[in-house]
Amino acid sequence: MEKVNTRHSISRILLLLLVVLFSFSQNLIAQEEAASAEQEQSAEGGDQEAAVAATGGDAAAGKELFNSLCASCHKRYKRSTGPALNGVTDRRETDWLYRWIKNSQAMIAEGDPEAVAIYEEFNQTAMTPFPQLSNEDIDNILAYVEQPKPEPQAQAQIPGDGGKSSGSGVSNDIILGVLAFVLLLLIVVLVLVNKTLNRFATASGVELPVTEKRKPIWKAFVENQFLVLVTSVFLLLAGGYFAYGYLMQVGVDQGYQPVQPIHYSHRIHAGDNEIDCKYCHSSARVSKTSGIPSLNVCMNCHKSISEVADASNPNSSVTEEYSKEFYDGEIQKLYEATGWDPATQSYTGETKPVKWVRIHNLPDFAYFNHSQHVSVAGVACQECHGPVEEMEVMYQYSPLTMGWCINCHRETNVKMEGNEYYEKIHDELSKKYGVETLTAAQMGALECGKCHY
Ligand code: HEC
Ligand code: HEC
Ligand code: HEC
Ligand code: HEC
Ligand code: HEC
Ligand code: HEC
Repeated sequence: MEKVNTRHSISRILLLLLVVLFSFSQNLIAQEEAASAEQEQSAEGGDQEAAVAATGGDAAAGKELFNSLCASCHKRYKRSTGPALNGVTDRRETDWLYRWIKNSQAMIAEGDPEAVAIYEEFNQTAMTPFPQLSNEDIDNILAYVEQPKPEPQAQAQIPGDGGKSSGSGVSNDIILGVLAFVLLLLIVVLVLVNKTLNRFATASGVELPVTEKRKPIWKAFVENQFLVLVTSVFLLLAGGYFAYGYLMQVGVDQGYQPVQPIHYSHRIHAGDNEIDCKYCHSSARVSKTSGIPSLNVCMNCHKSISEVADASNPNSSVTEEYSKEFYDGEIQKLYEATGWDPATQSYTGETKPVKWVRIHNLPDFAYFNHSQHVSVAGVACQECHGPVEEMEVMYQYSPLTMGWCINCHRETNVKMEGNEYYEKIHDELSKKYGVETLTAAQMGALECGKCHY
């Protein structure tokens, strides 16, 4: 009678364990899937040109028009020389917009109340007339400006953590969690087994020796060989895991974030002010290196921008961490380096080179080419360099290891459409592999000689 009872409770415990383990592993799998889905999403992110706004225009065509004609005075989400244009189709009638954009001065002269009001609000700054634009062009522009502001990616953006998306897939946190959980399970099992054994003993009438004084816990622990064994196995496993992780990181500078001679913020330039990466890193498209812009490029703008807008201005990039005084001081450093005297608006001729600290650096025996990736493959800068437009201070986002390069070559399909160079080789290779799309790996991007001199 009693025996049956005990067997029942043990099998119940086993069942419980199984259920817990099963649901846990399901959890893990789900997490991994979520992580890879997120990765894919972020790979697709960036340009959402395909989106078509309510006006029915073509946002991609609109972007080009906007950048060439309107961007000097308008931003989409922030006030600039003119108002922020996002949301303008809610504020105004479409016909009004057609007339305004083609010739705003005429409307003001006619005394259109809305036109006069906004003209006054912007201190009577005249907007350039664009009589050459068709209504369709304007629809396209409006479709572009009405695209919703992209949400900052939910991915972790802490320096050094960026590798999550490119590393082994399972993050350290999950593995630590599993280890802690296993330990907890062991403890629970031990307690339960102990209880059952005790009950079993009392049931079969065995007298348990009653110790007068409880032993100190460490003594009990040392005497319990099973516990000692389990603990040492656990410690060995954990030690091995961390040692491996440490060794694999030797020579990997992910998260490297040196202090630069001028506090130059990509968040303010590439993010808030939407300056195109290639305006400064112009050689990325055509050559092996991207290069750091010369200070002349900076001075194209900074001759007239000697300070940042103060915190009360809706345009201001000032944060709690960095004050306006700090930013203005940094622009002053730029003037000292180029020998620009803002008082006389001229160069004094005394220059001091700025020594930017190089962040990304492959070893000499590895060959990497920007134009191959940016122009030929069409990979966005952000896939390798992370959310640059949110970085106040630049850091190395990707591990830049060989495994990282190889992984992406295995996963990324080569863009073949409209590329004559690839048509023939594509036909041959897709026959060979019997597939429609080819990854970079199948094109031969895993051959040692392609990346090693
Ligand atoms: C030279 C600077 C300048 C350029 C270039 C410019 N705008 Fe403007 N825009 C303004 C200013 C300033 C205003 C505010 C009204 C005023 O002062 O005339 C304005 C107002 C507007 C408005 C009205 C916004 C509202 O809230 O009602 C629209 C729409 C607009 N611009 C669209 C465009 C488009 C589209 C282009 C490009 C094809 C463009 N603008 C190019 C300076 C410019
Ligand atoms: C206004 C000019 C400017 C723009 C626009 C700009 N950058 Fe930079 N970038 C710099 C300067 C200056 C540095 C060197 C200082 C630093 O590292 O912060 C730099 C550094 C970098 C580095 C690190 C280089 C190294 O030392 O390894 C990367 C990567 C980079 N930029 C990527 C981008 C991307 C991606 C964009 C577009 C989202 C962009 N930059 C837009 C000026 C610019
Ligand atoms: C296309 C125009 C443009 C170019 C090119 C440009 N800047 Fe700027 N920069 C700005 C604007 C606009 C602001 C002010 C933003 C504000 O008011 O919040 C600014 C602000 C700054 C600041 C203060 C905020 C910060 O980032 O710390 C510094 C320093 C600076 N720029 C340095 C540089 C350097 C160095 C270069 C060249 C590598 C450069 N800028 C190129 C437009 C430009
Ligand atoms: C496929 C990944 C990848 C893409 C896409 C990519 N980069 Fe890089 N970038 C790298 C690697 C790897 C290095 C280190 C190169 C080296 O040390 O030789 C680097 C280095 C840099 C540097 C440091 C100076 C230099 O030229 O070596 C800058 C600046 C830079 N990248 C900017 C950009 C910009 C801007 C874009 C987008 C137009 C871009 N990168 C796209 C991987 C990439
Ligand atoms: C974000 C994905 C991605 C990463 C990361 C990446 N690559 Fe690539 N790479 C590609 C793609 C896609 C191609 C195919 C381009 C083409 O020829 O159409 C390619 C092509 C190449 C080629 C030319 C191969 C050939 O067949 O001619 C070389 C060399 C190369 N990559 C080196 C590297 C190195 C070195 C790294 C790491 C430092 C790296 N890549 C990281 C996507 C990537
Ligand atoms: C897609 C580009 C690429 C290909 C293909 C490639 N490598 Fe590498 N390899 C790299 C990069 C980048 C590094 C530098 C990694 C670092 O600094 O951590 C590297 C590093 C190495 C190292 C130094 C050890 C290390 O991990 O730092 C050896 C050895 C090596 N590669 C051998 C090979 C062999 C053998 C092949 C052919 C089977 C090969 N590589 C193919 C990009 C590549």
